[in-house]
This record gives sequence, structure tokens and C-alpha cells, in this order.
Amino acid sequence: MRILLIGPPGGGKGTQAKFLSEKYNIPQISTGDMLRENVKNKTSLGTEAKDYMNMGQLVPDSLILNMMKEKLNHDSMDQGYILDGFPRTLPQANGLDEVLSDLGQTLDIVIMINVDDEAIVDRMSGRRVHLDSGRVYHIIYNPPKVEGLDDLTSEKLIIREDDKEHTVRNRLEVYHNQTKPIIEHYSDKGIVNKIDGNNTINEVKNQIEKCLL
Ligand code: AP5
Repeated sequence: MRILLIGPPGGGKGTQAKFLSEKYNIPQISTGDMLRENVKNKTSLGTEAKDYMNMGQLVPDSLILNMMKEKLNHDSMDQGYILDGFPRTLPQANGLDEVLSDLGQTLDIVIMINVDDEAIVDRMSGRRVHLDSGRVYHIIYNPPKVEGLDDLTSEKLIIREDDKEHTVRNRLEVYHNQTKPIIEHYSDKGIVNKIDGNNTINEVKNQIEKCLL
């Protein structure tokens, strides 16, 4: 199963991708997590990407496409995957089509999670993340068992650098201008399902599961 999740920053893609990854036993591929790993390890990609990320801008398509071509060509991706945060522009969507066509693969389903902008700003202020695993919490809507600590490793949770309100608003603008339009690309293929992401985490999860029946 190859699933693509599209939605605004903080729209719940990562949260839902984790559920799907467990349920279908396929990996979550989050370009945001991959980039943060590169920033943390101070690789050349991480050094190039860091400023764009901190400003809430998109990292250039060429960097993302190179990173993803390498990832999707890997044998461990043969059973399927969940794409979370890629593609985000039309050139990236076209690049993904090429990679999939070379591999003789297609996407099975696109799930678009819609959330109102003001709800996003509220959610981001309470988000806490475990950097190494990408596990995501919210201080009210999805709190960890022990405040400030990851449930599985008990390591400290952090606030992401790009979750400040000003940066979140930039990211929302980028989403509306550059990412939302790519839904047309997939509508033509008849595989798009739109979900109301303003509901609770569980309700969103149930809606997505219904689309996958
Ligand atoms: P990335 O990490 O992909 O950020 P994003 O798309 O902005 O998405 P987030 O990870 O912020 O949110 P999410 O939708 O996963 O929501 P979450 O589940 O955490 O990208 C970061 C940066 O990297 C980009 O700005 C860009 O610079 C760069 N980048 C990445 N990919 C790129 C690409 N392809 N091209 C170019 N640049 C790229 O949920 C958010 C919070 O809400 C959590 O606290 C969660 O617990 C809570 N929550 C979730 N669902 C609900 C709900 N239903 N109700 C209440 N709370 C909820």
C-alpha cells in the first residue's frame, strides 16, 4: 500500500502516519523528519536546509527530490509506505511520478487532511516532539504519560524551532500557495479523499480508516 498524506503544517499528518504505519506495517517517510535528522547531524544537506526550515520556507525542490529518489529506490520500500510532507510543490509531484514510473509503482490513495488556520496556530503552540523518533505529542490533546518526556524512551521532548507563531503563519501561507494546488494533480487520477481534520485525533483516524476499507 502506498499512501500519500497531504495537509497543512500541524494538520496531523505525522500523528496519523504513525497509526497507519503500525496498522499496515509499512514505513512512514517524513521529509521533515529526514531534514531535521540532517540538520542535527550537520550534513551538507542539513546545512543547506536549515535556514529555509527556520524561516518556514520550503527547501529547494532539487535537494528534496535527490533525497527522496535515494530513499524510494531502497529495497525496504518494496512493501509500500506512507508519504508525509512530500510532495509539496508541482515539480516535486512530477518528480515523484517519474520515480514511481521508473519503479513500476503507483500511489494507491491520497488523503488530504483539511484544518482551519486558527486551529493550526493553537495546535502548534502545544506541540512537543521526540526528535530521534519523530513521535509527536500535544500538551492538551495528546499528552505524554509523563510531562515533558517521550513515552517509549523517557528522553526529553522539545519544542520545534519552527513552531513559533510567526513562523507557523509563514508555513501556512506557503501551504496555501504552493502545496494545496497540487491536489489538482492527484484529483485527475481519481485517488483523492478529503478528511475534516478539525475533529479529534481519534475521529480523524476513524475517517481515514474508512477511506482505506
Ligand atoms: P514538516 O516537518 O513536514 O512540517 P509540516 O508539514 O509543516 O508538518 P508538521 O510536522 O509541522 O505537522 P503534522 O501535519 O505532521 O502535524 P502533527 O501530527 O505533528 O516540515 C518542516 C519543514 O521542513 C518545512 O517547513 C520545510 O522547510 C521543510 N520541508 C519538509 N518537507 C519538505 C518538502 N517536501 N519540500 C520542501 N521543504 C520541505 O500535529 C501537530 C500537533 O497537533 C501535535 O501536537 C499533535 O499532537 C496535534 N494534533 C494532531 N492531530 C490533532 C487533532 N485532530 N486534534 C488536536 N490536536 C491534534
